[in-house]
Amino acid sequence: MNFTQIKDLEEKYYSQVFSRHPVCAVKGRGMYVWDSSGEKYLDMFAGIAVNALGHCHPAHVLAIKKQAETLIHTSNYLYTTPQLELAELLTKISGMDRVFFSNDGTEAVEAAVKLARSATGKKEVIAMKGGFHGRSMGALGLTWSEKFRHPFEPLVPGMSFVDYDNAGKLEKAITKNTAAVILEPIQGEAGVILPKDGYLKEVRKICDDNNVLMIADEVQTGFGRTGKMFACEHENVKPDIMCVAKGLGGGFPIGAALFRGIDFGRGQHGGTFVGSPLACAASKAVIETIIKDKLVENSAKTGKSLMDRLASEGMRVHGRGLMIGIDVADGKKTVLDLIEKKVLTINSENTVRVLPPLIIEKEHADIFVSKIKELKDERKI
Ligand SMILES: Cc1ncc(COP(=O)(O)O)c(C=O)c1O
Repeated sequence: MNFTQIKDLEEKYYSQVFSRHPVCAVKGRGMYVWDSSGEKYLDMFAGIAVNALGHCHPAHVLAIKKQAETLIHTSNYLYTTPQLELAELLTKISGMDRVFFSNDGTEAVEAAVKLARSATGKKEVIAMKGGFHGRSMGALGLTWSEKFRHPFEPLVPGMSFVDYDNAGKLEKAITKNTAAVILEPIQGEAGVILPKDGYLKEVRKICDDNNVLMIADEVQTGFGRTGKMFACEHENVKPDIMCVAKGLGGGFPIGAALFRGIDFGRGQHGGTFVGSPLACAASKAVIETIIKDKLVENSAKTGKSLMDRLASEGMRVHGRGLMIGIDVADGKKTVLDLIEKKVLTINSENTVRVLPPLIIEKEHADIFVSKIKELKDERKI
């Protein structure tokens, strides 16, 4: 099938809800993706910060294969050991007590908010302007963007917003009905927005002083993306609930809410597919490989050198680890121009987001820098 035929099929049969890049991916290996005409692309966005080990990493593939041949699904009526082993591993690396698995990041946020309401008996949640937490009716209530929210209102009541990176405004917004504050340690979809150093610590203190739960949405920042296993570690902050997904499964759909000091009552939450043996075995292989191959350290080191090099080329660059934003005149056009040069990225408005697999090496960073520099020299950004 040629690309025109592929596009026709999509237009005819698939919801037109997505704005796609003009590429049909057919194969991936490591840092690279191949399209339907055999062209090879350097993947610098990892399926939106998901393919932590790159594409088809042998340890990931082997774990999925072995588990698929053993036991794929049972529901949570039965105990399964891959689920419990992954839960134990997650508590160890996060310092949290317990885990509830979900199928993605949105569901992790849903679980977090339900848990916050049930554990505190209070109803209100304060989220941040610019924040993104998903698009289900619950999570959408915490997602800032008008364009995502407006067609679907009214959303779940009890959600409000304050300025990100402004502890004073957060403190003022808390009432006796506030169950939780939810925030991203670095705002991802907003365009890689970093708060000032010390802000997360201030949020932690405000939550403690007011008996309010702190929910860290680490769906995008977790599992080494920012150069620490979890981004809250940059400030030694421990939330009460942490939402994770994306890098957790390395491409296999799975998310989780991790929490400490609280738990659901029996029967308060659930899901047919959550924590399936297959998803958990895949995810365990991802985390073990991240640790064994020191990919968190690689994220910190390669991310910093990539940012330094982009800055020295005169780019307006911001981020941490391998969560990098480059501000350009026209974000969408720059992403399309990079595709012409066989490099895949994404954009939030006029910020090009660079979120490569954590396995990135210097040779890949070199290619990226040279391709974006070419665009600059051609006066295209
Ligand atoms: C911080 C954050 N929370 C939640 C979500 C929703 O996750 P998912 O798309 O896996 O449902 C995202 C997705 O981009 C995200 O970046």
